Amino acid sequence: MYRQQIAEQLEKYTSFNAEQIYGLLEIPKEETHGDVAFPCFQLAKQFRKAPAGIAAELAEQINRDTQANENSLIDRAVAVGGYLNFFLKRERIMADTLISIATMGDRYGDSDVGQGVKVAIDMSSVNIAKPFAIHHLRSTMIGNAIANIYKSQGYHVIKINHLGDWGTSFGKLIAAYRYWGGEYDFSENPVRQLLALYVRFNQEAEQKPELEDEARAAFKSLEDGDPEAVSLWKRFIEISLNEFEKTYRLLNVDFDSYKGESFYNDKMDAVEEELRQKGLLQTSEGAEIVDLSAFDMPPCLIRKSDGATLYATRDLAAALYRHREMGADRLVYVVGAEQKLHFRQVFKVLELMGNGWAATDCIHVPFGTMFVDGQRLSSRKGQVVFLEDVLRKAIEVAKGIIEEKNPDLPNKEEIAEAVGVGAIIFNDLKNSRVNDVNFVWDEALNFDGETGPYVQYTYARLSSLLRKGQYEPQSAARFSEVSGLTGDVEWLIVKLLGRFPDIMERAAEQYDPSVVAKYVIDVCQIFNRYYNTTRILDGEKQEIEEKLLLVAATRTVIGKCLHLLGLRSMETI
Ligand code: ARG
Repeated sequence: MYRQQIAEQLEKYTSFNAEQIYGLLEIPKEETHGDVAFPCFQLAKQFRKAPAGIAAELAEQINRDTQANENSLIDRAVAVGGYLNFFLKRERIMADTLISIATMGDRYGDSDVGQGVKVAIDMSSVNIAKPFAIHHLRSTMIGNAIANIYKSQGYHVIKINHLGDWGTSFGKLIAAYRYWGGEYDFSENPVRQLLALYVRFNQEAEQKPELEDEARAAFKSLEDGDPEAVSLWKRFIEISLNEFEKTYRLLNVDFDSYKGESFYNDKMDAVEEELRQKGLLQTSEGAEIVDLSAFDMPPCLIRKSDGATLYATRDLAAALYRHREMGADRLVYVVGAEQKLHFRQVFKVLELMGNGWAATDCIHVPFGTMFVDGQRLSSRKGQVVFLEDVLRKAIEVAKGIIEEKNPDLPNKEEIAEAVGVGAIIFNDLKNSRVNDVNFVWDEALNFDGETGPYVQYTYARLSSLLRKGQYEPQSAARFSEVSGLTGDVEWLIVKLLGRFPDIMERAAEQYDPSVVAKYVIDVCQIFNRYYNTTRILDGEKQEIEEKLLLVAATRTVIGKCLHLLGLRSMETI
């Protein structure tokens, strides 16, 4: 928050404007070297001097000016090598930051930069008749957090579950069901039965390749609207959605739209026609393609030689629908990194069709692969870990811990669910988005260290302090300065809390919730350091009130981060 003011204050000394300076400001690596650092390396041209000389000259000038300027947030400037470092006026910034957090409450960190911009986020997008497996967690929770972050920045967000409810695998399933459906009991765990059918089909097809032809024919009959094929397909969808709902409920995630791939069935002819009219379509070995060799990419397949449409065809129709019918200005796709080429192709075709916006406003937000205990999973072979099983197991473990630590808690079930699910979500979101994640049971369920439950516990601890100290939110307005919070740890906390709006901005810009996850861990760690060394509820009335103001602000920020990441926060654990 204060960075903006400092950038403005520095404007007159350099040829950069406040915005450029803002972008250059850093935090010194050593806490004792200052609160903010401005690197002078880029000023060498303007000053015709070495950076260290510039830093020294500016430090002197700024110190002279700030002495005369009561409003300055800078206490003193010092040159450290080529850096101009600033020590800030602690009391002023403490009061400004804490009071503004107290006043803004849950709106702290929000902005309106996204006002008037509609963003469609394609997220989760699980496949019908396949399990909601642990790797889908990534798209679901990263997408959910990005949606929350974008909403808080003022964007109009539409969360879309682009269900995989169409494609050749349905041909396999229909064929498999016709052969062996009667052998399976669909009254219990029906998606697991569908998976078993699918796996069996793939196994048998290895011996009898003619089964693949039957599957292709079955899919064709589905595309042609054959009633028996359609009714089987509908049944698979119903079964799957019922199961998925359970998992979404546990994760506390909802969607604004469930338009899956099949929704675009009657919209693909028009896309093909538009491509043809624009001279983009070519026939190659009986298939319709868009040649992308000029862009160093393989062709984008629009229609196979047997007349079937493809994943890419549906994505083209979906993108145009989202832009034209839903009015989305920006299309974001939270989909694994392995689909990078697919999205590059789709975006390029959209652009070639004359959609200039696609070049800048179609964004693939890729993420790494999730391995389980070091192994890649493949649903073709039936190796899956069901997300629901993982969540249930985590909840069990959480329950065990609560039983041990706090057996008298009234709403144990509810809390165990929030903590167990929180552990799984945070374990995923704390990893930089593009990195692969290795899901390891012991780590995911470790409730100490850099985990969701640690953050949730810290939140509960802060809530309890406020309750015991009878903190009154309205009292915050009385403070014009907070002279009692003089320690270095308090100052570190306030500086960190003050950075929250920047963190939000960065997380949004990078489409990366791990920015928020890592930040909230820092906040918890530094606060717990304070907690372990300070008797917060002891002392003079004014002193306690000031400490509680700090506690309340920290709680607001932690609560907000939990919410953004999709974790529940509780007053008591
Ligand atoms: N259902 C696909 C899969 O599991 C992901 C779909 C992503 N969204 C899209 N518009 N292509 O791989």
